[in-house]
Formats: sequence, structure tokens, C-alpha cells
Amino acid sequence: MLKKIILCLLTPLLMGGCVSGKEAAMQKIQSLKDAYADYFLIGNIVSGVDMDDLRYNILTTHHNIATAENAMKPQYLQGTKGVFTFYDADAIVNKALSRGLNVHGHTLAWHQQSPAWMNYEGVSREEAVINLTTHAKTVAAHFKGRVVSWDVLNEAIADNPSNTEDWKANLRQSPWFKAVGADYVEIVFKAAREADPDAKLYYNDYNLDNPNKASVVYNMVKDINERNPDVVGRPLIDGVGMQGHYSSHTSPANVENSLQRFISLGVEVSITELDVQCGEEGKQTDAQKVAQGITYAALFNVFKKYAENIGRVTMWGLDDGSSWRRQACPTMFNDNLHPKPAFFAALDPDKFITENGASIEKKEAKQAEAVYGTPDLADAAAWSQAPAISIDSYLMAWQGASGTAKVLWDESNLYVLVNVNNAEMNKANQNTYEQDSVEIFIDENNGKTPYYEKDDAQYRVNFDNEATFNPQSAAEGFESRTTVSGRSYTVSLKIPFRTIDVKRGGIIGFDVQINGASSRGARQSVAVWNDLSGGSYQDTSGLGILKLTKR
Ligand code: G3I
Repeated sequence: MLKKIILCLLTPLLMGGCVSGKEAAMQKIQSLKDAYADYFLIGNIVSGVDMDDLRYNILTTHHNIATAENAMKPQYLQGTKGVFTFYDADAIVNKALSRGLNVHGHTLAWHQQSPAWMNYEGVSREEAVINLTTHAKTVAAHFKGRVVSWDVLNEAIADNPSNTEDWKANLRQSPWFKAVGADYVEIVFKAAREADPDAKLYYNDYNLDNPNKASVVYNMVKDINERNPDVVGRPLIDGVGMQGHYSSHTSPANVENSLQRFISLGVEVSITELDVQCGEEGKQTDAQKVAQGITYAALFNVFKKYAENIGRVTMWGLDDGSSWRRQACPTMFNDNLHPKPAFFAALDPDKFITENGASIEKKEAKQAEAVYGTPDLADAAAWSQAPAISIDSYLMAWQGASGTAKVLWDESNLYVLVNVNNAEMNKANQNTYEQDSVEIFIDENNGKTPYYEKDDAQYRVNFDNEATFNPQSAAEGFESRTTVSGRSYTVSLKIPFRTIDVKRGGIIGFDVQINGASSRGARQSVAVWNDLSGGSYQDTSGLGILKLTKR
């Protein structure tokens, strides 16, 4: 019923009918695609829910290219071997074309939403290659002439790459990789080019604002294109898709650096899945709406700067209510399909920043003191001289496990004692960050970089004293100990200094995070000392400051 009323109210307005008052004001909203007509295409996703007139009119008013959110993924097109089911995808593609939109294809190969028969464990390489090429060729041929471009391969690179020079060593251990080997990348691109030589062929991935991951993708595309400079008239890979699943803590400077790198390869770049998280439980405060707008504005300013090499900017979700991250309100339209500040920020970034930039206060990093001393990890009393740091600022709505930390240091190591309360003591989840655990982030040169430098590291220890490291090399010389008592546990850690000489003390970037698991084994709460961005595993700019003093 409510939906019907909203529909009655909004339909005339969005279709350009005769309306008054507030609606008339909305009618004047400029079209996003028109604002960017001289820059790049503006896109959004389409799924079954978008096929009604109200949503479709917003789509066509503000966008000129569409991506099927799910319908063109392998699982939906060939769930059963040899049985291609194009009905839903055709409906989406044909409607988009009939309403004047271009269509981008997503995706021919991915480790998710793909049927197991394609690349099951134990399949021969020969059979897997046939499955891969048959799928890619049949699908690309089916949509030939109707799509302008394809995400040929999605998310093939692992997170937190180590040696970025060797792209093959950083391929995700996906079913395709395991079944075929590293050359599956070239194989699927060649199949797509053969079937539809006119479509632009993209490699698409997330976290490409991370310079390490961007380097791996850069090296992969460079290598493949240098070895395949003329596949039906041009290099094999036409473009790099930076997905752009960001948050209001994302650094636009990082995005710009990666854009520049990819452009230097001579390929087209597109922003393929843009959204900006800034909210909890499906709600946003006014301050969050503005902060989100500032990020959209800063990003669109970067995109405008490189417009000559950018094909399209596609948003991943028409409105918050239908977004895959609806809890974090990441899109430009609210649940009632009204444009949010983020929309106006994208429409006119400079105006938005001028009008709102000053209202964003820069948060000062918290400071704490580490006292000189060399403790026995088993003796919590050894930390008694060190001041307690409260780990009780929550990143998520749920306020679960929290605690205090104390820090000692000597010439070789940092010694951290963390007391955690209110924990469920659950380590069922295979993602170690979803287990009841403590994380320590160290930025030895306090460089506050939006990516990890050599002096940066993350240490995670669960209540059962199982440790994980980022990078793995940070494990050298590390020691830890845990004790559990009811719903409380204590972790003591010895963390060697890796790149700095601290004889006279000094200042380092530092943070502590407590992951609280639910009794069902999913992370339900995250408490930190300073960095509320949730990004301290890859970005040290939000860490607090630790002073190493001698009393
Ligand atoms: O089709 C089934 C349906 O039969 C079932 O009743 C229903 C119950 O949950 O699930 C339906 O499948 C869902 C599917 O979307 C279609 O709606 C899956 O559960 C759900 O997990 C799936 O999520 C999609 C996700 O990719 C899968 O990883 C999201 O909608 C889609 O937005 C998201 O998109 C990806 C991009 O393709 C690649 N980059 C990341 C991006 C966000 O995760």
C-alpha cells in the first residue's frame, strides 16, 4: 500500500508530469548523465526489482549505461552444463536498449555465482578449459552487438598481495585457477575477443585503491598486453575496472594514484561498482550524509580530471534500500528514491565542497604513552606502571566485547597487554577477523599513509592464542600468550620493532581493535582505540599515536 502511495506521488514527477510544491522542486533536479555528457558515461545496475516504471525512470533520467546486477553471471546463464538460460538477462538487456541505455556485460568468469560443474575439484585441465571457453564464447556471442563491453574476468587477484612484481603468484586460489592454472586469465580474454571482437574487454576488481593490489593488476595487464599486442587488431585487455566499493574514509588520493597507473598502461579505465558506505543499520545522521557527499564529490572531481581516459562511472545500486550494502546507506538515493546529499555532491562536486567542506571537522588522533620496561608475557602485573588505554569506540552498531590495553617497550620490542571483557569466546568462523580476537596495528614511522608501507603491520591473536599476520613476514620474532576466565580474556604480545631504532624512545602510529564474535560465530562487534574507519588493515592514516617514553 505504502509503495503504491509513494508511486502515485512520484510517478508524475519523475515522468515529467504536472506537479506542484516539493515535487516541483524535485522536478528541477538536473540529470546526472547530462551533467557528465562531456566526460564519461554514467551507469547503474539493473535487477528484477528495477523493471517497474518508477525505478526505471530514475535509471533513464540519470544514467546512460546499465549493468545487470546478477542476471549475466555464470550461475544464472549456465547453471546446468550445456543448458543456457538467457531469458532474464535478455529481458534486462533488451529493455535497457529499448530505453536508450547502453549495456555493459558482467561477468564471464568469477569465483562467485558460478556453478560447481565448471571447475570442480578434480576436473581435468582440458575439461575445465573447454568449460571456460565454451561459456565465454557462447555468452559473448549471444550478446554481441547488444553490449558495449564485458567484465571478462572479475576479482582474480588475492587481497594483501606480497611480491607485487609477480602477478601470477598473487592470483586468487580460485576454482578456475586451481583447475586451469595461471593462463586461464589469457584463455578467457581470448575466447571473449574471438566471440565479440567489437566489445571492450575489461579486467574488473575491488580494492584497487590499494597501491599493492593495483600494482599486481598493473603488472598483469602490462604483461598480458605486451605478449598479446594484436588480438584481432588490438591488445587483448582493453580496460581495467576499478569497482569502487568505498567508504567515507576512502582516500581519493589513493584512487587517483591507481587511476594514473592504469591509464599509463594505455588502457581505458572505468569505475564499475561505485558506492560509499557511511551509515549503520540502514540509517544515516545528517553529518554522515554530508561526509558521504564530500567523498562522492572528491571522487567525482578525480574522475573529471581523468575523464579523457575514463569510459564510464557506474554506481552499484539505485537506492539504499536495494543496495547489497543497504545497512551502510552507500548510494545516492534514499529508500524512498529521493536524492541524498551524495547525489548533489556528484552533480556539482565543487559547489558541494564549498558549501559543506567546512562542516567536516578533522578528528585529532588520540595519544597514549608506552612506558619503558621488559615484561615477562606471563606476568600481567609487569604492566602496572603503564597507563591504560580504553578500547571502547565501536565501529558497528552492536556494542560487544571491549577492553583496555597497556603498552611497554624496550630497544627491541613493543609489549602490549590487552584485557578483553564481554566476549563470547567463539572462533568458529574461518575468517580469523570474525573470531573473538585482538588486533594490534603498528605504523613505525607514523607515516599515516593510506596504504601499508614496509614499516606497517597488523597482528591478530584470538582468545585461544592463534596468531595471524599482515604481512606474514611480521611473524618473525613475535610471541603471544592468552588466558581465559569466563567471558574475559587477556592477550599479551611481544612485537619486535622491524624498521626503526627506538633507543631514545619516539612516536609510532598505533591502534588496538577487539573483534567480538556472536555465539553463532559471526563478527557482531568491533571496538577500537582510535581508528573508526574500519580500514586500519590497509591504511594507517587513522591510527592513534603512541609515545615511547622513559620515566
Ligand atoms: O537467486 C537467489 C534466489 O533464488 C534466493 O531465493 C535468494 C535468497 O537469498 O538468493 C538469490 O541469490 C542472491 C543473488 O544476489 C541474487 O539476488 C544471493 O543470495 C546473493 O548473495 C547475491 O548477492 C549478489 C552478490 O554480488 C553475490 O556475491 C549481489 O546482489 C550483487 O550486488 C553482488 O555484486 C558483486 C559484483 O557482482 C562483483 N563485485 C562485488 C559486488 C558486491 O558484492
